[in-house]
Amino acid sequence: MEKYYFTYEDIHRTARDIAERVVSSGFEPDVIVAIGSGGFIPARILRTFLGKPILAVGIAYYDADDKPSELPRKVQWVEEAEKKLAGKRILLVDEVDDSRTTLEYCVRELLRHRPAEIAVAVLHDKRKEKRGAIPPEVKRYIAGRTIEDRWVCYPWDALDIDGHVAAAAASSDAGGGEGR
Ligand code: G4P
Ligand code: MG
Repeated sequence: MEKYYFTYEDIHRTARDIAERVVSSGFEPDVIVAIGSGGFIPARILRTFLGKPILAVGIAYYDADDKPSELPRKVQWVEEAEKKLAGKRILLVDEVDDSRTTLEYCVRELLRHRPAEIAVAVLHDKRKEKRGAIPPEVKRYIAGRTIEDRWVCYPWDALDIDGHVAAAAASSDAGGGEGR
């Protein structure tokens, strides 16, 4: 099955679109919470447009003995800073909404800190049946692009970035880019 290849430029444009939609929706975040590691680079680009500080959280699908687990667990969380989330408007950022499990877990964890509001932003939302659900407390969900349920190759995963850029150009020439 064909994969999507997005370049850093694609990602930057998508992040700019998200930022514009965040602003035009009237949502002014106090803080960006990035879900690692895929959310780190998108969050950093969003910061360029929104100018807000970034907190990072990390989730793992393996247990303390390195065995795979069905449920996510926190491997890194905002700790001290999370106490400061009360009453704040949070923009939660990840790269891809796939099964939605991680997003649901993170929203639920963040809600425990009584923020004023949580908005969710992802670069790419895959059109598919989701295992998780975004809790109803979340009134704003922004997906930069809605894409088919195919594997996405992100530039930060590329060992050969030139080959990655060439693959992205080839797939957009073939009309398969869908990311611009
Ligand atoms: P979701 O709630 O955001 O839908 O995430 P889900 O738990 O379904 O995703 C599990 C992992 O699979 C996540 O990585 C997610 O980024 C990754 N993933 C899902 N689909 C794709 C894809 O098409 N391309 C790539 N490159 N990754 C995908 P993770 O465990 O959080 O690891 P990390 O890579 O973010 O560090
Ligand atoms: Mg991820």
